Amino acid sequence: MQRVAIVDPTESTRESLRTLLLGVDFVWLDNECARYEYFADVIQSAPPELVIVALDADKNKALQLIQQLSAEHPTLPILTISHDHQALLQSLQKGAKYFLTHPVGLQDILSALRRALGEHSGGASSQSGRITQNTTSSVVALLGSRGGVGTTTIAVNLAATLAADPNHAVALLDLDLALGDADISLEVSGSENISIADLAHNIERLDMNFLRRALAKHEGTGLSILRHPLEIGQVGMIHEQHVDRIVNLLKMSYTNLILDLSKGLLPTDLTGLRMADQILLVAQLELASLRNVVRLLHCLGGEDGLVEKIRVVINRQGAETIEEGISIKKAEEVIGKPIFWQIPNDSKSVIGARVAGHPLIKFAPKSAVQKSFVGLSQAMYGKPASGGNKGSKRGWFGRG
Ligand SMILES: Nc1ncnc2c1ncn2[C@@H]1O[C@H](COP(=O)(O)OP(=O)(O)OP(=O)(O)O)[C@@H](O)[C@H]1O
Ligand SMILES: [Mg+2]
Repeated sequence: MQRVAIVDPTESTRESLRTLLLGVDFVWLDNECARYEYFADVIQSAPPELVIVALDADKNKALQLIQQLSAEHPTLPILTISHDHQALLQSLQKGAKYFLTHPVGLQDILSALRRALGEHSGGASSQSGRITQNTTSSVVALLGSRGGVGTTTIAVNLAATLAADPNHAVALLDLDLALGDADISLEVSGSENISIADLAHNIERLDMNFLRRALAKHEGTGLSILRHPLEIGQVGMIHEQHVDRIVNLLKMSYTNLILDLSKGLLPTDLTGLRMADQILLVAQLELASLRNVVRLLHCLGGEDGLVEKIRVVINRQGAETIEEGISIKKAEEVIGKPIFWQIPNDSKSVIGARVAGHPLIKFAPKSAVQKSFVGLSQAMYGKPASGGNKGSKRGWFGRG
């Protein structure tokens, strides 16, 4: 995602430009300015990858600004827009590199942006050398094979385990929109009343400040969480396009996004699955859950690239309540795929942590189940997570 700033004193054209840019998934509208005089200051501290200057509100002031921008930021690409061919020509003489004539359509802006950003990107760094896109950002989606198998428990504790690494910025998105409960396991401060519904409602006006305020933070771990809608009635207003945009924007600020999906295979869930780099399909060693793993693998296998990302995780291994005598070997035969990881049953630690509102890494850092989450994160990323379980490479119950 590349950052773009626009200046256009005319509200109507500025709004249509903003709407156009919101339809382009590789740019982030970083700043919008209504005054030519202020624009240079607005972008001074963190210049974007591209600026767009609309000339028609005041041609002279606009040209003066372009001259100033090209002197202060010689490598910053400037795209100008106008009805007036003469003005466009003059803007090129003052330092603009690209231009578009009004009216500007989506296709026009797309190709201009691709050209401008493609020619000038040279990596993910901005003019100031600040990294603006986190190219290593990883998205993990968690999907349960039936209700209550521990999907949310794994999402929360995997996220908290990853967040323990100071190089990580981790956000957990509760996409179990109607009945999600990830926030119960995380006692958070601030942003009490902001949820994904507010982001969806303001999708056209989202800026980085609003986005940051929308995520609540768990103090003990530094993990951020975007909650499910507070009112179940708001679920209908959240569409897959919202999820797509929100995930893409959050990837700019976070190294790891963990998506706790619903079991409804809704369009929002499918978007999460498509956007994920890895999908953890959570199951338990019992018939209904394993049968659903087979059904889900079959169903998701219909779409290119999904099944390859799926890793089956068995939760509550060793639970007395699971008495069907199904071994890991048998489960692997049934689903036709290796079990990627196994998480031990530990009701005392898991329920205690949930009641306390703190992930296991804080509540029971030495428990076998927390060690298993460390192992899981290592297995997923092929490198040690902070506070790792040095003793056993693939965790307590992991396959060797
Ligand atoms: N490894 C574990 N050991 C013991 N108890 C566990 C473990 N994992 C999850 N649980 C318990 O199982 C119950 C269901 O867990 P959780 O809410 O995480 O499941 P879920 O799949 O997200 O459920 P839902 O279908 O409601 O979304 C909770 O009471 C939780 O404490
Ligand atoms: Mg859940």
